[in-house]
Amino acid sequence: MAHRHVVVAIDGPAASGKSSTAQWVAQRIGFRHVDSGALYRAATAAQLRRSTNESNWTEEQVCEAARHVKLLPRGTSFSPLIDGENVDDELRGLEVTRHVSRVAAMECVRAWVNDRVREAARDNDIVVDGRDMGTAVFPDATVKVFLVADPWERARRRLVQQLGRSPVDEEIAEETGRLVQRDARDATQTVQAKDAILIDTTFLTQEEQVERIVALVRAVTQREDTTSAVDDDSGPG
Ligand code: DC
Repeated sequence: MAHRHVVVAIDGPAASGKSSTAQWVAQRIGFRHVDSGALYRAATAAQLRRSTNESNWTEEQVCEAARHVKLLPRGTSFSPLIDGENVDDELRGLEVTRHVSRVAAMECVRAWVNDRVREAARDNDIVVDGRDMGTAVFPDATVKVFLVADPWERARRRLVQQLGRSPVDEEIAEETGRLVQRDARDATQTVQAKDAILIDTTFLTQEEQVERIVALVRAVTQREDTTSAVDDDSGPG
């Protein structure tokens, strides 16, 4: 079999800690990180530059806008650029977050994102995070992980990150409501592969999540090495 690059696919719902975990895992094992959600966000940001009135958006226009986005390697990651401009901060903003589910439901956008991510895996070992990386995009990924966490805990973590302090219960309750609504909007896209390893991070630190995934990757890649060594020895002579 021709050599193929290793793909570690990490899927899960919003605010399950996928992207930061994937980034950290990638650094630990020397792979590059690809955040597929950032591509959906970049397509949304590119379209918002043309029109902020979502009710007028057509699938064709959004896909045209997405063509202005390039995914380029940067450090140990890939970053989406719009017309050559780094837009990392804009991508996490409220405006993009409000519109991105609609964009992510468009078939041509999904095909465009999937092509970009597969392209990244052509020349790199990658850790990729998203909703359907272990199913639609890389059904034969080397390792598949599905991260889940209790919605209250996901909301609390997100607020700690946003506010830089411990949120009070009323704030967490409000954010939990928003998260559950987003989960519902993204539900069709969020699929756990049958052969994915489920990790519930509700009671894990980020370090523990990362350690588990690194251990899984090492176990699987070492097993593959051993198998190919056995295959090599099995020839005549
Ligand atoms: O993970 P995130 O919040 O950055 O994702 C942004 C949006 O993109 C969200 O609406 C879910 C969607 N998405 C998707 O449909 N498929 C993916 N593989 C990744 C993200």
